[in-house]
Amino acid sequence: KNVGVLLAGGVGSRVGLDIPKQLIKVAGKTLLEHTLVALHDHPDVDEVLVMMTPGHTDAVRDIVRKAGFEKVTAILEGGETRNATTQRAIDHLSAQHDPASVRILLHDAVRPLVTPRIIGECFAALADYPAVDVAIPSADTIIEVAPDDTIRSIPPRAALRRGQTPQAFRLDVLARAYELADADPDFTATDDCSVVLRYLPDEPIIVVHGDDRNMKVTEPIDVFIADKLFQLTGIDLPRGRDEAGYAEAFKGKTMVVFGG
Ligand code: CTP
Repeated sequence: KNVGVLLAGGVGSRVGLDIPKQLIKVAGKTLLEHTLVALHDHPDVDEVLVMMTPGHTDAVRDIVRKAGFEKVTAILEGGETRNATTQRAIDHLSAQHDPASVRILLHDAVRPLVTPRIIGECFAALADYPAVDVAIPSADTIIEVAPDDTIRSIPPRAALRRGQTPQAFRLDVLARAYELADADPDFTATDDCSVVLRYLPDEPIIVVHGDDRNMKVTEPIDVFIADKLFQLTGIDLPRGRDEAGYAEAFKGKTMVVFGG
């Protein structure tokens, strides 16, 4: 079974509105709904779980009811941190299914432009690997700094990538990594692959190529950029978007934005 988990448990403090940023409307729909369409309508996704900010699950219930997302099996409240939200999703799915037979794909609700190719390649990679990350090369030089803002190292750019989501796992492997993390008082992380990397270092994590369009809405300016990207796709990506349609929607349009 392939389960898509929408991580929408945050508050979006950096965007700074009085609603969670995943409920901001862009191109006529909330970011959450755009992302839900991408996961829900993907042919490889059997079931969708939505993890929402505590106190806001009714908004998700409304969206799911109105749009008829019949693969959504549960809408649950997230935890204090992103990792706590993942832990709750793991607990829920482990109670519902045999973890050895579930493949879990976790995606940020605030990356509404994820492409069908990325989702498909993540599930496909799980046939050969227990864990999958999605990343793109960095145009910027990435520098490692010390707490006092002096440079510690400048690793060669060719060996670096910028991590995106989704991240996908065999559920039993992710559950085991989180169990070990739970027993570690020093545990800190901001994503799920780093939990596997740290606590199950022998499990290989393959990296699937991401997409520049798969941006994360983090700062106020990102709302503007996401809106612009949706305009380029013809305002709205149709339900059941496929890769060809996606490419078609963007064809020849990048010049308008970036070339003036
Ligand atoms: N997330 C989550 N549970 C949390 C925190 C974050 O499910 N306790 C989700 C967010 O909803 C988002 C994704 O993880 O879809 C990426 O996190 P981030 O961009 O950091 O979101 P926020 O925590 O909402 O943003 P901020 O740090 O600005 O408050």
